[in-house]
Order: sequence, then structure tokens, then C-alpha cells
Amino acid sequence: MAIIAQDRIQAAKQDGVLLLGLNHPPLNTLDHPLRQQLHDALQAAAEDASVQAIVLHGTQGNFSAGADIREFDQPRQAPWAGDLASLIAASGKPVVAALEGVALGGGLELALAAHARVGSASARLGLPEVKLGLLPGGGGTQRLPRLIGAAHALPLILEGRSVDGKAALALGLLDQVCDEAGLLDCAVRKARALCAGNPVSRRDTSSSSEVQAGLAALAAQRQRLAAKPHVLPAQRLLLDCLQAALEQPLKDGLKFERDAFLQCVASAEHKGLAHAFFAERQAGKSPAGQARPRPVQRAGVIGGGTMGAGIAVAMLGAGLDVVLIERDAAALQSGRERIDGIYQRQIKSGRLDAAALDRHLSRLSAATDYAALSTADLVVEAVFEDMDVKTQVFAQLDRVCKPGAILATNTSYLDINQIARSISRPQDVIGLHFFSPANIMKLLEIVVPEQVADDVVATGFALARRLGKVPVRAGVCDGFIGNRILYVYREAANHMMEDGASPYQIDQALERFGYAMGPFRTADLTGGDIGWATRKRKAPTRPPEARYVRVADRLCERGWFGQKTGRGYYLYPERGQRGKPDADVLALIDEERAARGITARAFSDEDIVRRYMAALINEAAKVLDDGIALRPADIDAALVNGYGFPRWRGGPMKYADDAGLAAVLADIESYAKEDAAFWAPAPLLQRLAREGSTFGKLNQPQ
Ligand code: COA
Repeated sequence: MAIIAQDRIQAAKQDGVLLLGLNHPPLNTLDHPLRQQLHDALQAAAEDASVQAIVLHGTQGNFSAGADIREFDQPRQAPWAGDLASLIAASGKPVVAALEGVALGGGLELALAAHARVGSASARLGLPEVKLGLLPGGGGTQRLPRLIGAAHALPLILEGRSVDGKAALALGLLDQVCDEAGLLDCAVRKARALCAGNPVSRRDTSSSSEVQAGLAALAAQRQRLAAKPHVLPAQRLLLDCLQAALEQPLKDGLKFERDAFLQCVASAEHKGLAHAFFAERQAGKSPAGQARPRPVQRAGVIGGGTMGAGIAVAMLGAGLDVVLIERDAAALQSGRERIDGIYQRQIKSGRLDAAALDRHLSRLSAATDYAALSTADLVVEAVFEDMDVKTQVFAQLDRVCKPGAILATNTSYLDINQIARSISRPQDVIGLHFFSPANIMKLLEIVVPEQVADDVVATGFALARRLGKVPVRAGVCDGFIGNRILYVYREAANHMMEDGASPYQIDQALERFGYAMGPFRTADLTGGDIGWATRKRKAPTRPPEARYVRVADRLCERGWFGQKTGRGYYLYPERGQRGKPDADVLALIDEERAARGITARAFSDEDIVRRYMAALINEAAKVLDDGIALRPADIDAALVNGYGFPRWRGGPMKYADDAGLAAVLADIESYAKEDAAFWAPAPLLQRLAREGSTFGKLNQPQ
């Protein structure tokens, strides 16, 4: 077997079959040198009489993760993925794609243009471009529906979902699933079969019933999108591309797709989503340098409340053995019921099957005695948010846990340094701040107290990755990154409410901005009683000069805790329904204004968004200045994944850069004339604005 090793493409010949290996590890992103070399190799193969067929594969376990996202910011250079796909499709010599690892985006589009596709059962195939505000620009919107039918292609492309090899076979996306070790041989056999004139049998997707089904699915999707408050340009254009695939010849469809793709690349939504993608990857790198994570297989979860149950489910889903600890049999029983409840919902929605449920439950045990934690590699406590309660739990852990076990607290704001100092092994103590529901929410703040060992931090990051979470390193302070910032912009919303905007207008303005739920609707969902208890606890330490809006307390005094009590800021006459504005709440707000001598003034929706964002950005800059967050991208990753900040805007720091830091600072300075303490500008923001700089520049390694 002769091998010609180039930089990005490895070529080898096996009796007339040319194996072209994409060789740009780890993910074979289709950067320009790779595209150029593949183009040259395909052209050379076309002219080489000794080549009868071609097999395209990845050299190191991945086929390709698709386009190199970083290139979209630069001038585009031919050949494009679409040119390569056309070259493959037009090849007089059969081309077979051998798919393993990831075959995503442009990678899958190359495979779609091939004459046959084989793949391993574990390969991940998909067109995830929409998650980056793009659409497949290399023929994917035209070739996928032709291959598997538009009705099946639609959800894959519109949601950017990937499927494994087995599901791809069922869809007709793969022609054969092969053993991973024998993938190349399998592909070569398929290539020879094609040369011998044995075509692959495929279903006919051009029949009128298929076309009608596709058009109906498109119409239903258009209706669904029309009801959404915000739709990406890519989502709308994708539907148009699929329609073109059903109605136009391939050549015209490809041109249509190309134009639509270029519109998406230029969209602000793409820039925001690409920013969020890289922010998450930057945030996800352990700040503990080369420290190796400690092995974790057996985990303890203390507390079977909503948070503990969610954490247990997240861990079981990642293959960990979990022991759930509660103080007595009744509490343990409720904890198990909560876990069962989560699983029942997952089964009902089709996210879990019975076999997986059995697997998960077989790794769950429960105990009331802390001795059951003696073999745990890691323990997360999710007990009542009170320093005395937490330190008592840690004292017990100190006594029973094996040396080297990681002792984590899920506290949202308590001083983890104090918790760590209270036991004999502070180096093993870390904060793992999950967000509710913990089995769903992506954010995991990894809070690093002063004495924590590097390998414990590294373990936190490795665990987050295993759980499918987005980890963000946070320093110790009241609220860490997310809740500290949240507190301030929620206060800004309260101030606006007291000054004249209704909670309904504020919610609506922020929902139009892109939040799925405004702050008052969110408060009703999470339950007003929790915040009320915190405020009462913190009342003695509240600075006397700080403005304090009493509306939330007064709602709670009436027992209006939100959805669970049928009323909060909104009325919920029927369970599960969207709340309705409540005249009594407006009257109560009026009373508060009167009591404070405030004359209500009008806020435009734009005023509301500007103040809310200014408060957020200002506190975020202080969080950076204090070293609580390492870089602006970490704040973006945190707020997008844990606080509902619209992902397509990239994150609040990216938003601030787009708005211009000088403009944001000018807003803050003008608001400071009303309330100098609350609106004290962050020194970092002042400096960046003065220098004409951006938060984005701070993300770059110094
Ligand atoms: N373009 C440029 N860089 C990419 C990339 C892409 N399409 N896909 C991944 N990378 C980079 C990541 O930024 C990361 O770089 P870093 O180490 O410098 O931070 C590195 O490749 C590894 O990626 P990571 O996401 O950490 O690896 P993973 O194994 O967890 O996940 C994927 C692999 C392919 C599932 C994931 O990276 C992904 O979803 N990529 C995007 C795929 C895509 O959308 N393709 C279509 C593009 S239009």
C-alpha cells in the first residue's frame, strides 16, 4: 500500500481504490488548506487511470466537524465545501465516505455528495449549522432531503440535531453500519461493489406523496416559527432552502442555498452564536494548568430536595454510581420519589427508555448513615442554605470520607472559604454550584476557595464535561459570578417598577429583547418565598443608604409566592397557564410609590432594556475587576447557560462591546445622577471606555 503523506490529506492506494484520509486533527475542520488539498487530490484521482474508486475517511477517529468556524470572520477563499461536494458528486469514479467519530456540517455534506456512505454505530452525523445561526452551505439542504425525504430532513436541519450510526442507517443516511475496526475495509468493499455496477438501493424521495409530506411538514414548521417571539434568519432561510429542494432542480437549489448561506454568515445572530460557542469552550478549560483530575466513579449526594435529586440524575446519566443521603427514612423516601418523578417525565417525553432507566437506577443507592460515603470519590452536599447546617455536614464528611475524596458544596452564596477552613482537609473542598433543574441546566459554576488543590479544580472541570455541563470558574464572594450579577440587574428592574414601569411592561420589553421570560415572570416561576427568606436573613447587613423596594415582600406577606400559590406578580387562575396581569398588584405598587413620594414616570421599552443591561454590564465589570470571573467570555458563558440571556446575542459582554462601552458608560453616568450608590461605575468599564477598548480584547491570552 503506497502512502503519500501531505499536510492535511493522507493518500494511500489499495488495488485501485484510493483512500483519501482527512488529516487535520483533532476534528478535521475543513479549513482552507484542507479544502485546497482535498480538491487537488480529487482532481488528481480523476486523471489517474490507476484509480477506479475513492474512499474518503478521517485518519484519527473523526471524519470531520465541518467548516472551521473561525474562517467565517475572514475573507472567504475558494474552493468552498460546496465546490468539493460538487466535485465528489460529479466524479466518474465512485466515492464512498467512511464515517466515524463526528461527521458534522460540511463534513457530512461531503459525505452526502458521495455515492455511498458507510459508518460506525457510534458515529455522530448531523448538520448543526443552525446552532451557529447558519445553514448548511455545501449542498446539505438540497442533498439531505433528496436522500432521506424532506419530512425527515427538516427536524435534523432545523434543530441541528445529530444522530448515531444506527439511527442514520434507519433514516437512509448511511447505507451500511460497519464495525469500527473494519470501517475502512468495509468502505473499500462498498467502493468495489459500486465499481462492479452494484448500485445501492435507496428509497424514492421524489414521489408525489414524499413531496406532499415534505411540503406539509414545512408549512407546519412555518406556523410554529411564526408564533415564536424571535426567529433566527437561518431558521427562516432553512425552510426556504428545503422548499427549493422540493420544487427546484438540484443546480438551482444549490445556488439558492449558497445565497441564503451568505446572508446567514453576515447576520448578527451568527456572530452572537459563534461567540457563545467559543466562550463556552474558553470557559471550559481548567484554570488548574496541567493538574490531572482525580478519578471519580462513586459519588455521594447529600440532600434529596429538588437540587439534590437533579444532581443525582445528572450524575447517574453520566454513568456514575450515586449514593443519596438524607437525614431519615421519610426524607430519603421523598428524595427517591423526586428522582423517580424526573425519570417519569423523561420517559413520558421520550428522552429516556426503560432499558436506560434500569441502567441508571441500578447505580443508585440510598442511606441515612454517612458511613455509606466512606468509599465515595466525590460528595456534593445540597442541604439547606445555612452556614451552621453546612459546616455540620462537612464535619461529618471529614470524619467518614476516604483521604483524597473531593468534598463539594452546592451553596449559591455562602462563604466556601469558611466551610473549607472548618475541616481538616480544606484542599479537598470546592464549590460545585448547579442550577435548577440540575439535570437540565447547562451551567456549573466551579467555585474555587483559597486553599483548594489544583487537581480538585481539574476534577471539577472534568466532571462538568462528563455531565455535559458548561463549567465556569468562579471566585468566592456573595453570589459568585451569576447570582451576584443577577442580584444587581434584578434590583434595577425593581427600581424601574417602583419608578413607573409595570412588571408586565418590564417583562415584555425583556422578552422582546430575547429572554424567554422576563424577571417577574421568572420570580413567579421560582417562587417568591425563597428570595423573601434570603432578604430577611440579609436585612441586618443591608447598607442603610441602599434603596430597597418592598413590593416583593408585600406580595409574600399576602402569601402570593407565584405560580405555586396561584398568584404572584401575575394571576394564575389555572395551573400551568401563562400568568395574567393583576390589578391588585398594580394597586399595591401604587401604594408603595405613594408611601415613598414617587410620582410614576413613563419608561419606553428601550429605556427598560438599557437600564437592565447597564446594571448587568456594570456589575459584571466589577466581578471581573475583583477576579471573581477570569475573563469576560466566562461571564457570557455563565449568563447564557444559567440565566436565560439570549444565546444569539452571544452574552452580555459581547452585547456591551456591540453597543459600545462608551455608550454603556454614558448611560450609567446619567442614571448615577438619580442614585449614585447603585450606579457607581465600574473602574474597569471606565478604563476600557476611555481607551476605546472592548471586553473582547480581555478574552485574548495576554
Ligand atoms: N471550527 C473551528 N473550531 C472548532 C470547530 C469548528 N467547526 N469545532 C470544534 N472546534 C474547536 C473548539 O473550539 C476546540 O478548540 P480549542 O481546544 O482551541 O478550544 C476544539 O476544536 C475541540 O472542540 P470541543 O468542542 O472542545 O471538542 P468536543 O470533543 O467536546 O466536541 C464537537 C466536538 C465537534 C461535537 C464540537 O466541537 C462541535 O459541536 N463543534 C461544532 C461543529 C459544527 O457546528 N460544525 C459546523 C460548522 S458550520
